[in-house]
Amino acid sequence: MAAPEIRRVGVVGLGAMGAGIAQLAIQAGYETVGREVTDELGTKANDRIAHFLQRKVDKEQMTTAERESALAALTLTTELADLVDCDLVIEAIVEDLGPKLELFAELERIVRPDAVLATNTSALSVTEIAAATSSPERVVGMHFFNPAPLMPLVEIVRAELSSDDAMDAAFAVGERMGKRPIRCHDTPGFVVNRVLIPLLNDCLRVLDEARVSPEDLDTAMTAGAGWPMGPCTLVDLVGIDVHVHASEALYEKLREPRMAPPPRIVAMKNAGLLGRKSGRGFYTYD
Ligand code: CAA
Repeated sequence: MAAPEIRRVGVVGLGAMGAGIAQLAIQAGYETVGREVTDELGTKANDRIAHFLQRKVDKEQMTTAERESALAALTLTTELADLVDCDLVIEAIVEDLGPKLELFAELERIVRPDAVLATNTSALSVTEIAAATSSPERVVGMHFFNPAPLMPLVEIVRAELSSDDAMDAAFAVGERMGKRPIRCHDTPGFVVNRVLIPLLNDCLRVLDEARVSPEDLDTAMTAGAGWPMGPCTLVDLVGIDVHVHASEALYEKLREPRMAPPPRIVAMKNAGLLGRKSGRGFYTYD
């Protein structure tokens, strides 16, 4: 399969990650189709993107005309069929294998045979997701970091059967989005989460072991280790449910005790304390 030139990008799922990815795509000048399950969720994502682009205008990082043309490049839809002309579709839906498998099987029926399909999964296997299609060579991982518009890295993940053309096309899109892409293979947690998840779990265990408050733990890691934000603030940003899910997925695959989510954070997830998105996690948000 020769990878197509990417002109039109589809993003499926416009939550925090998907909206960030769609923002990057329109900023990079791609015609972009964003798909959410309801009009309300699509509008919410559009408002979020419009807000962050306005902040860029306010800070003179972008002109009003550039903001308007970027926003005009984004088409919202609730129909997967509207992705028909996309050269690349990036999936950023819920982190569950079942819905992802269904989506990839459906996308394959909709887009052209040479379109590249990418998943933003953080802890699931790209190879397993690719196996839902009959053309796994066009499936790769494009793993962005939260907040996607700000974090420079994107991991371009090669699944067992990914083609060089699909990898190159995804890498080129990452570069055009202004990211610093790296290539890696489809191993549990890829590069960053393989290191970051157990590290964050260690931090959370220290909360109880050293009997420090979340505020003091965050101060310890920002003021003592130079982290840009403390571990409790970071887990609140990522989402406590997302962190627990990623920890469980890595523990299941690697069986390393440090990967397992500490009981304290599992209890928080079960109580609906999901961090910023629910208004309460280690901290409280407006
Ligand atoms: N989307 C788009 N734009 C955003 C945004 C978002 N979510 N959040 C902020 N911005 C924009 C805003 O316009 C903001 O400016 P204003 O406040 O003036 O509006 C601007 O970006 C700068 O924001 P900040 O002042 O908050 O930026 P900062 O310099 O403090 O840096 C940070 C913020 C980049 C997030 C930094 O704190 C950092 O690097 N934190 C670590 C984050 C990290 O480790 N992420 C990885 C998580 S792990 C993961 O994602 C993997 C996974 O699979 C779960």
